[in-house]
Amino acid sequence: MTTTIQTVALKSITKRFPGVLANDRVSFDVRSGEIHALLGENGAGKSTLMKILYGLYQPNEGEILINDQPVKIKTPSDAMRQGIGMVHQHFQLVPTFTVVENIALGLKSSRAPLTDLDSVKKQIVELGEQYGLRVDPNALVWQLAVGQQQRVEILKALYRQASLLILDEPTAVLTPQEVDELFTTLRKLTDTGHSLIFISHKLHEVMKISDRVTVLRDGRVVGTKATKETNQKELARMMVGRDVVTVWDKPICSADTAVLRIEKLSALNDKDLPAVRNLSLQVCANEILGIAGVSGNGQRELAETIAGLRRATGGSIIVNGRNLTNCAPAEIIAAQVAFIPEERMTMGVIRDFTVQENAILETHADAPLARNTLFDFKKIAAHATKLVRDYDVKTPTLDTPVKALSGGNIQKLIMARELERHPKLLIAAQPTRGVDIGATEYIHKRLIEQRNAGMAILLISEDLDEVLALSDRIAVMYEGEIAGIVAPNTPVDELGLMMAGAKRMQS
Ligand SMILES: Nc1ncnc2c1ncn2[C@@H]1O[C@H](COP(=O)(O)OP(=O)(O)O)[C@@H](O)[C@H]1O
Ligand SMILES: [Mg+2]
Repeated sequence: MTTTIQTVALKSITKRFPGVLANDRVSFDVRSGEIHALLGENGAGKSTLMKILYGLYQPNEGEILINDQPVKIKTPSDAMRQGIGMVHQHFQLVPTFTVVENIALGLKSSRAPLTDLDSVKKQIVELGEQYGLRVDPNALVWQLAVGQQQRVEILKALYRQASLLILDEPTAVLTPQEVDELFTTLRKLTDTGHSLIFISHKLHEVMKISDRVTVLRDGRVVGTKATKETNQKELARMMVGRDVVTVWDKPICSADTAVLRIEKLSALNDKDLPAVRNLSLQVCANEILGIAGVSGNGQRELAETIAGLRRATGGSIIVNGRNLTNCAPAEIIAAQVAFIPEERMTMGVIRDFTVQENAILETHADAPLARNTLFDFKKIAAHATKLVRDYDVKTPTLDTPVKALSGGNIQKLIMARELERHPKLLIAAQPTRGVDIGATEYIHKRLIEQRNAGMAILLISEDLDEVLALSDRIAVMYEGEIAGIVAPNTPVDELGLMMAGAKRMQS
């Protein structure tokens, strides 16, 4: 390691963006050999703080001390020279390069015109063995699974002799097994004197892996705790600012007739490759069927095919006894099917339209909002006002363009619009991705409420906690097929094995 880092301290860091105080006098420190978790909701200021430490942003106020000495970190190269490495939320690898090329990238020695790739390769293999980060140095990055790409990012930082490693939401893209493997690696790193900053908004992970935890809310430090001396409930309260309900009582599903019946469905992805393969499943009234799976296993294509936005190449989709396979979206909507799309900003709303206009999308041709193709603006406004109020959508006015709202509020608006049509079947794809805890909780409650009122809900989510919390049954999707349908009390590692394609079952 270049500098052995004993302590890194951020002192009273303030960072302003136009109209946003992203970090407000934040102090934070990390010591060698520890994992310090940085916990907070979306938008709390975690990434900003770490980008300051990594030299990507300059603070408006405050200073950084390494081993008690003030340092200036103006660029990521400065950070690396100080022994600080960062694995970003979105990887920064070049997909068409090999692993070794990515790791050697930008490290050409000043003497030799070419980096000696063989020696880099050797070091990668050694580091990989030492820390449990095995990956083929000759593989092209685009061919690697997301978990492996993350290993490459970590290896890259270690290869550059990072002593402090910042991991920004590293588990967001991993299966439960991969999370376990990552945690083993992290422990090996602290055993060899590295310090780690682990960013997350998942309480159980923070409880499991960290030595200390600092909670950020609205750009400020709420507190720092020794992990052993706190618990999930306290951390949740610190994070959100009030008690959080995370468990609901679930009445037993008593449905006998399937509202949605999918039989041997097949569909292609955007590259014309099979994405949904001969898939069958049923969802009953009063039931949430959760689809768990690692991103890219056909979940998106499944949802789009049901919604009529993608062509089925085989099989059938039957809703309340009616065959809706390859019907137009409008027909599907008319058959009382609602859809909360994964691509909220492109498929769920029209960005530049106002809240009011978005509130009536899809329904605008229906009475009582339109009479003789003329819109009844008074009724539209009243309807929008009601949705905004009933679903707690925080918007300055009804005429605000939706692109100005936060993700959580846009999602509430979409949900309001879709549920207000009283559908029999709801397809909810990643309904809380990128949404803060408060809105997530709200959306979850609404889904449960609708389920209890008789709706059949197909919930597609990459957030396993969400699937576990809401589903009456869980179907695991792997490579376009259902790897198994299991009860919601199935152990997480079992689900993980199924999600990774290592196990199949039916119950
Ligand atoms: N480059 C930027 N320009 C303007 N605003 C930003 C920028 N980066 C982050 N923000 C804002 O700063 C706040 C904190 O964001 P961020 O640090 O990304 O939070 P977190 O990582 O905890 O989700 C948010 O309100 C976000 O919209
Ligand atoms: Mg972030």
